[in-house]
Amino acid sequence: MKVERVLVVGAGAMGSQIAMLAALGGMRVHVHDAYPGALAAAEQALRGRVGRRVEKGQLSQSEMDDAFARLTFTPDLATGAADAQLIIEAIKEDLDAKSALFAELDALAPAEAILATNSSSITASLLGARTRRPGRVVNAHFFNPPLVMDCVEVVAHERLDPDVAPAVLDVCRRMGKAPVALPREVPGIVANRILSAIVREAAALTDGGFATVEAVDEICRNALGHPMGPFELLDMAGLDVNLQMQQLIFEQTGVDQDRPIPAVVDLVGHGRLGRKSGGGFYDYDEETSR
Ligand code: 3HC
Repeated sequence: MKVERVLVVGAGAMGSQIAMLAALGGMRVHVHDAYPGALAAAEQALRGRVGRRVEKGQLSQSEMDDAFARLTFTPDLATGAADAQLIIEAIKEDLDAKSALFAELDALAPAEAILATNSSSITASLLGARTRRPGRVVNAHFFNPPLVMDCVEVVAHERLDPDVAPAVLDVCRRMGKAPVALPREVPGIVANRILSAIVREAAALTDGGFATVEAVDEICRNALGHPMGPFELLDMAGLDVNLQMQQLIFEQTGVDQDRPIPAVVDLVGHGRLGRKSGGGFYDYDEETSR
């Protein structure tokens, strides 16, 4: 099956950019969000980001116009689901909310449609169990910011229909991404599990007084060649998002090393969620937060 019609559910930073990628890749895309205002904000942000690519000569004005013509922002879930071949869920990391959404999508979408979750912490098997099509439910995990990051983790599982992963990998490639096919589910998947190990060690070093937050980030950038240090990366991704993710991973594995990191729990408890709230591990003024 060659996917031509996509629905993205959730118009936050992840969902809106995933929808844009699909539209830029030539697919017809609906993007839906349940919160009033989210769709207009998403469209405005995307026009700014893609417009800058046009200004830099990376994209022509007509390519941008054509992509936006293929992209429909809709407050009505059923409209986008009715003829979708692939639905990508990118709502908050909340098992109950995602479970309810997958049950609803299962009722609204054609029987052969693929339901993908952008979650890394909740396996497709868990969500597929809420549907009548567990063989068509898959993790397709994009990275923040999706317009920029090349990787997508596409994860197979025992019950997955054989045509699903190839179809999703093909979509990712048409989005200009370099997806990686993985054979087996694990909560967190590969990248976030490795990132968690780095954050755990980074927090242990700062807690022990061996290095400041700034020093850890600088060393990761300049000694290890990471584009961002772990603390600035968590501030960009959102500490609340990281905490929810880690809690979900720990609930599924029960392994001690998967417990949420106390420094993150503490900051979230004080309302410090990262760049979006003006502060996390660092303080941000309006100019630096985005
Ligand atoms: N959204 C979209 N595009 C963005 C962006 C954002 N929030 N921030 C920056 N960009 C774009 C810029 O527009 C620019 O695009 P262009 O090359 O087409 O002009 C490009 O990124 C480079 O931006 P800048 O020159 O302003 O800044 P940097 O060179 O410092 O790059 C960065 C910014 C791409 C965010 C880079 O610092 C980076 O790669 N950081 C690491 C990101 C990372 O590790 N992501 C994975 C996080 S884990 C995850 O996502 C898992 C999930 O489950 C939470």
